[in-house]
Amino acid sequence: MNKIILGTQWGDEGKGKIVDFYSAQMDAIVRFQGGNNAGHTLVINGKKSILHLIPSGIFHKNKTCIIGNGVVLDPEILLQEINQLKKVKALRSTKQLRISERAHVIMPYHKMIDQLREQAKGKNKIGTTGRGIGPCYEDKVSRQGIRVHDLIHPDQLEQKLKLILPYKNNYVRKLYQKKGLSFKKLFEQYAALGKELKPYVENTTELIWSFIQNKKSILFEGAQGTSLDIDHGTYPYVTSSNTVSGYAACGSGVGVRQIDEIIGIAKAYTTRVGDGPFPTELNDKTGEYLREKGHEFGSTTGRSRRCGWLDLVVIRHSQLVNGLTSLILTKLDVLSGLKEIKVCVGYRLNSKTTQSLPADINSLEKLKPIYEKFPGWDEDISQITQFKKLPQNCQRFVKAIEKKLNLPIFSVSVGPDRKQQIDIT
Ligand code: GDP
Ligand code: IMO
Ligand code: MG
Repeated sequence: MNKIILGTQWGDEGKGKIVDFYSAQMDAIVRFQGGNNAGHTLVINGKKSILHLIPSGIFHKNKTCIIGNGVVLDPEILLQEINQLKKVKALRSTKQLRISERAHVIMPYHKMIDQLREQAKGKNKIGTTGRGIGPCYEDKVSRQGIRVHDLIHPDQLEQKLKLILPYKNNYVRKLYQKKGLSFKKLFEQYAALGKELKPYVENTTELIWSFIQNKKSILFEGAQGTSLDIDHGTYPYVTSSNTVSGYAACGSGVGVRQIDEIIGIAKAYTTRVGDGPFPTELNDKTGEYLREKGHEFGSTTGRSRRCGWLDLVVIRHSQLVNGLTSLILTKLDVLSGLKEIKVCVGYRLNSKTTQSLPADINSLEKLKPIYEKFPGWDEDISQITQFKKLPQNCQRFVKAIEKKLNLPIFSVSVGPDRKQQIDIT
């Protein structure tokens, strides 16, 4: 059985925790899009680790973690992550981590351009992570990107860099009056990084195919969330990749028919980092309560996350564009202590009601959520291990969401640790 686990909101739904949990049953775990804009947090026996590029299955023994062709990869960050994992003995062999030779490389000029653009935009900024994600995907699509294959072949790296660097230097000089980068320094640094990464690189399309042929199970790990998808998200306040299930096939080189299950992860409330529309945002005490109790501070940039009520229009949109087969609800424990819990079940837009997410940004900014209220519960639920032992109001809340979406919720998460997971049987 091959599964996709992905975010249904604006990222940080707890994908890392859930992928780690289900990796125990899988043979390979594949990242298929995004880059180190992602921050996936795992807590295993009280020990916290944050992964930005390496799939969240890496803490299990005898699993193959794969960085697919759809990922944009910053070699410096990846090597830091590799070295950190070697230190804690999670990564013991190059067999555990395989990198696609087709993945694109984030170069220093990508990061520079990302940050300069954001500064220049001022209050109209996207609020990117500044990791060079957008500019790298732009180069991929405009066919001037550097791929991992180039990185590990110095002659090809040299040739490509000689063509592209003058163009990039010219761009930052003319548009932002910034000094360009030195070819010699850049080439030497990146050729050295390529040499270090080479033992991990292979044709991952063939590798994944061999897993499929041998009836091994593959878990595809999404990054970001559906509302950050370049096509289906709240454009232009999105990331630069497709985060939806369809891209799991494209970004790892498998056919769509190889995927059996598509599991959406939804936080029991909503958060968003960066700018852009957020209909259920709470700029009040409840919002602060969620931020403090849920430790809603970015795993990548440390920025404070915007918080609000659960938005079922957003989840329903995700259900449609991903073809979700089930849902896992996370951070249910964070809602404990609230007298009343609100859930958005539709929007009001110019005196009309709708249950679908409008495409244009002006409408998205004008939406007024329609809420349904649920009675809360006081008990700390973080140590509960059986669904039927959860407070009645908590069980009702989960069941009501399941019913409204007509989508099975087969598990809930009640704390950050691997153990704090309740399967609903
Ligand atoms: P991801 O990007 O989707 O992997 O999510 P992040 O790791 O960026 O953010 C999720 C945060 O919530 C992390 O700090 C997790 O440790 C934490 N977390 C995950 N699941 C739960 C849960 O059920 N309860 C609580 N309290 N924290 C959780
Ligand atoms: P994980 O995988 C939350 C957001 C940024 C910004 C927008 C564009 O941990 O859920 P980018 O740097 O990608 O060009 O920024 O996307 N963003 C995320 N928000 N979680 C993430 O990843 C994100 N990755 C990007 O904050 O609003
Ligand atoms: Mg995250």
